[in-house]
Amino acid sequence: MNATQIKPDVYWVGAIDWAVRDFHGYMTPNGTTYNNYLVMDEKITLFDTVKYDFSEIMLDNVNQIVHPSKIEYVVINHIENDHATSLDRIMAFAPNATIYITEKGKKGLARFFDISSWNIKTVKTGDTLNIGKRNLVFLETPMLHWPDSMMTYIKEDKILISQDGFGQHLATSSRFDDEFIECASVSELEDSVIDYYANILMPFGGIIKNKLAEVQKLGLDIEIIAPDHGVIWRKNPGKVLQMYTDMASGKANLSVAVIYDTMWHSTEMMTLPLMRGIMEEGVDCKVLKLRATPMSIAIKEFWKARGLLVGTPTLNNKMFPSMAEFLQHVSGLRPKDRIAGAFGSYGWGGGAVKEAYEWLKAMKLETVEPGVQALYRPAPEDDQKCYEFGKEFARKVKEYHAQFE
Ligand code: FEO
Repeated sequence: MNATQIKPDVYWVGAIDWAVRDFHGYMTPNGTTYNNYLVMDEKITLFDTVKYDFSEIMLDNVNQIVHPSKIEYVVINHIENDHATSLDRIMAFAPNATIYITEKGKKGLARFFDISSWNIKTVKTGDTLNIGKRNLVFLETPMLHWPDSMMTYIKEDKILISQDGFGQHLATSSRFDDEFIECASVSELEDSVIDYYANILMPFGGIIKNKLAEVQKLGLDIEIIAPDHGVIWRKNPGKVLQMYTDMASGKANLSVAVIYDTMWHSTEMMTLPLMRGIMEEGVDCKVLKLRATPMSIAIKEFWKARGLLVGTPTLNNKMFPSMAEFLQHVSGLRPKDRIAGAFGSYGWGGGAVKEAYEWLKAMKLETVEPGVQALYRPAPEDDQKCYEFGKEFARKVKEYHAQFE
């Protein structure tokens, strides 16, 4: 993919990673892109770099516009490996370039590179930098999603370079939202935004809300949002801003994600009457078996729904290991504004459903108890209990959901 003009003298010079499927444990079935940007002004400025494996592609793209040795400023919005590990390649060409980065970014950078000979200036929210005809405004976004993170606004072009924020793991030949929608669909793009938010940004909803308010207060007129992954938002940046506002405010579908695993199909059999009960209450339902579903997709589907029902057989008085892994992931993402319950089968002592509730309550999720359990194989009376619990759970989901409407 060649360098692509976003606005006059502003270019995307990144790389597309069509093949990545495991992004530090996060499944990326659609690959990703590593976006970085070059601005041709009196001071030629590069924003971020790319994952090291793609540094040659980035250098080729830069070279289509200008020789990398001409770069005078490098803005590093985020030091995570997928964006900063090619920095030394740039600095090898442009050793006198000045790097602009947050204080925490500088500290982190020193752990990855020998920065002793680099000219580094630290910046904070509200600091500005004139690069010729343009002025940059820096906006720190600590813990979105690393301590070093920041965004940079190009005032004259009305472009917000938003690093991971508003990104999507989506390898595509489309550089812009409108191009992608034309060849794919709005829902596919939206789904990628939700997937990214659920798996990476979910723990930071409160910070996101405050940061969005801060951006509003700064009165930044944003025409284009240029993230470090996925498509650039030029047709409708308001769309992704609204999606973030909604997700950070607890928006979810009036639906239930039934996420389960099973040993000898007993717990699986319980999902059918549960689903029937849920749907009879007019609540949508999606059922996912953990060992048949990549973890990041299970997380996304959990995040989309207001209600979560986890189903697990008992193994050695504990939850099934795949359910323990799932709840461990969910717990780390510190979800809010969801209601949950549990069900499962057991042979003798039981224990899995109890343990699942302990996890759900430790996450401070609203719970509907005591759930439902079946000995060995669900009998007709167990089916009835599941059906009734499905109905009760759906009613509780509706009540809980009403406060967000
Ligand atoms: Fe895309 Fe936080 O790195």
